[in-house]
Amino acid sequence: MATNIVFHTGSVSNEERNQYLSQKGVTIWLTGLSASGKSTIACALEQHLLHLQKFVYRLDGDNIRFGLNKDLGFDEKSRNENIRRIGEVARLFTDSGCITLTAFISPYRADRDVAREVHRKSGLPFLEVFVDAPLEVVEKRDPKGLYKKARSGEIKDFTGISAPYEAPNEPEIHIRTDSCTVEEAVKVITEYLVENEYISLPSPTPAVAEPGLLVKLLASCRWYLGL
Ligand SMILES: Nc1ncnc2c1ncn2[C@@H]1O[C@H](COP(=O)(O)OP(=O)(O)O)[C@@H](O)[C@H]1O
Ligand SMILES: [Mg+2]
Repeated sequence: MATNIVFHTGSVSNEERNQYLSQKGVTIWLTGLSASGKSTIACALEQHLLHLQKFVYRLDGDNIRFGLNKDLGFDEKSRNENIRRIGEVARLFTDSGCITLTAFISPYRADRDVAREVHRKSGLPFLEVFVDAPLEVVEKRDPKGLYKKARSGEIKDFTGISAPYEAPNEPEIHIRTDSCTVEEAVKVITEYLVENEYISLPSPTPAVAEPGLLVKLLASCRWYLGL
């Protein structure tokens, strides 16, 4: 534990960041079984929001384990530390004004609550998205062959098979990927962000909003030119 450290507050306020970035920083925490669709939805959502000119970034489970968390395994203590660090990193991104997407199994309710609490203490929003599909469905998908390995005992501590998954009790958003498409999931989350004023969508250009506008302009030009 470090001693003799003093927090140095900056001169840029959160309001100022929101105003200049035209969005509110928010952590969107995707949780669910392996192969439930967290990474797939996070990737599609990241691209969609970027194309809407939003400042967005994705933190993904496996990717973080290649770097920051490469010293951690999959036992309960390591999983706790994995999520604690991600919670802190997500908080920093969100504090910067970013729409931060995290895609981690994060199987323990208490760990997700720690991440939520870290945000709450900093006055930053945290949305839990339950990416939900039954075990039979995700086991059938098995895009990385991990369930097969877990069933044969080759992988120990595998969530849903030999390690627990504690589903969220009150997620802000609940998406059932066995009955909705990736596009629908992206739409649901984007609409939530708009309705709760984290982002606003660009207003349509006049030509799109009013197809008759061009005709009216041409008509007035003809009159002006005496045609
Ligand atoms: N509605 C859906 N939403 C997300 N993924 C889906 C859906 N339907 C099928 N899939 C497939 O399920 C798999 C989910 O894998 P992935 O996104 O890597 O899961 P996770 O990151 O949760 O482990 C992908 O192969 C994806 O194409
Ligand atoms: Mg993933």
